[in-house]
Amino acid sequence: MTDVDWAGLRAAAEEARDHAYAPYSRHPVGAAALTSSGRIVTGCNVENASLGITLCAECGLVSDLVRTSPPGQRESIVAFACVGPNPGPLLPCGRCRQLLHEHGGAEILIDRAGGPTRLGDLIPDAFGPESIP
Ligand code: THU
Repeated sequence: MTDVDWAGLRAAAEEARDHAYAPYSRHPVGAAALTSSGRIVTGCNVENASLGITLCAECGLVSDLVRTSPPGQRESIVAFACVGPNPGPLLPCGRCRQLLHEHGGAEILIDRAGGPTRLGDLIPDAFGPESIP
């Protein structure tokens, strides 16, 4: 199993959370992921007055992953940590589990109270790129 610096990943998520724009929910969220090349990418939630189009922290993180990967060599996610305003890890919402799955699949390790969990256990039998050959 990949050696993951979970404390470092959580710290990166906390730093990202400081950038959150969450005036409506007052629930700032930060997310961080270790990539296949050993980099860390991050994101924070960005809310909108039209509440339904809020961007979760994972949206920003996936955008960061794709934007900062070398052209033609898109990296994948190996491990993921998310924090909200309260102590302890925050698990991604259903939509964001799907977003993460696209970029690392079932073996992504998700920070969770009690220990890291495979994304595949949080979104079993996920629809993915191989579902539309
Ligand atoms: N939120 C995230 O950023 N990620 C999640 O996985 C769950 C929810 C944000 C969206 C909204 O800005 C706030 O948390 C409250 O729902």
